[in-house]
Amino acid sequence: MDSDRLAALRTPEGVAALATAAGLAGGDPLAAAAALRATGVPADLAAAALTQAELRRRAVGKFGPAAAGMFLTRAGLEQATRRVVADRRAARLRAAGVRTLADLGCGLGADALAAARAGIRVYGVEADPVTAAMAAANAEAAGLADLFTVECGDATAFDVSRVDGVFCDPARRKAGTGRRIFDPNAYSPPWDFVTGLAGRVPHTVVKVAPGLDHTLIPAGAEAEWVGVDGDLVEAALWCGALAEVPRRATVLRGDTAHRLTGAGDAEAPVGPVRRYVYDPDPAVVRAHLVAELAGELDATLADPSIAYLYADRARPTPFARCLEVTDVLPFSLKRLRALLRERRVGRLEILKRGSALEPEKLRRDLRLAGDAAASLVLTRVAGAPTVLLARPLPG
Ligand SMILES: C[S@@+](CC[C@H](N)C(=O)[O-])C[C@H]1O[C@@H](n2cnc3c(N)ncnc32)[C@H](O)[C@@H]1O
Repeated sequence: MDSDRLAALRTPEGVAALATAAGLAGGDPLAAAAALRATGVPADLAAAALTQAELRRRAVGKFGPAAAGMFLTRAGLEQATRRVVADRRAARLRAAGVRTLADLGCGLGADALAAARAGIRVYGVEADPVTAAMAAANAEAAGLADLFTVECGDATAFDVSRVDGVFCDPARRKAGTGRRIFDPNAYSPPWDFVTGLAGRVPHTVVKVAPGLDHTLIPAGAEAEWVGVDGDLVEAALWCGALAEVPRRATVLRGDTAHRLTGAGDAEAPVGPVRRYVYDPDPAVVRAHLVAELAGELDATLADPSIAYLYADRARPTPFARCLEVTDVLPFSLKRLRALLRERRVGRLEILKRGSALEPEKLRRDLRLAGDAAASLVLTRVAGAPTVLLARPLPG
């Protein structure tokens, strides 16, 4: 997508082409292009409209019905924050008293739009001209153009004294190739600039990769990991006046946010395998809050380095899945195969932590047969490779 095509899509002819393309997306792309051209739409405009329609379809999972009116690029959509996460962040910023916010590297504007919806005046800065134009178009489509404006330029040159809050979600993919960047020093804007914002603006939030090394968390910042329906989606650093606790895990299920907080350096007690095993949400594990969860569940680890928790009682928790352990055995393919045959297990879920086994190869080697279902937990107990056969508890 270039600026001319984006401009063409915003003319009355383009808007009509987008409306027709929306009904054609998701099917055979060649047939859709032919159908659109048959209505008199020029080939170039038809291709651009169909690409947008396809991206909008894919974006529904992240943005809900609002996706239907948004302008998107593939890379922008991949990097954009999902609405449920952006809205919660915006509400927290607003509750902390932020009234004006700079979004430095605003991309397509998912975070900026959420802040504007929360009533915050947002100044977006975006280096890529087409992405910047799309963000502005998205603000207009959402009826928020008076609260979210975008300038195309280098975020490092923005005068942050104009705002009382700053949000930065640096690009973690290489422009052009789209390849993931794992080294924060290669982020854009650069890591030094991003972390230095906390010393310049009273309210600073930085979105980071969930795999962020804890040693990179600036002193005094709150690091939050966010999980949505069991998937770890992002981490964020809340700096300055926004930092409330050292570590936080936020688990979003449906419309409810569940929060677990702590220091991030506590160690859970170690004990034997017990009747129930809990598999903590990845947000809890990445936030180093397994000890805090163990305290809530009256649970222990069976190996100090592996994040499965064991307890005598099953308690409902949004922070972990709970399974009832039926069998504990040292790992042996032969013994495991015999046990699963005896139980007529044909459907097997395989969980693992601390095991080098490859679940799909193991599944093939087990040659399952039968109509019963079970869960297999591949792990270590006090350092020894161990297998737990288990059944998940509802909910
Ligand atoms: C991860 S994306 C932002 C996504 C956005 N938070 C959202 O949810 O839609 C990062 C964006 O920063 C932009 N960017 C990278 N370096 C920049 C710089 N120095 N100045 C302005 N924008 C920059 C990239 O073009 C990219 O669009």
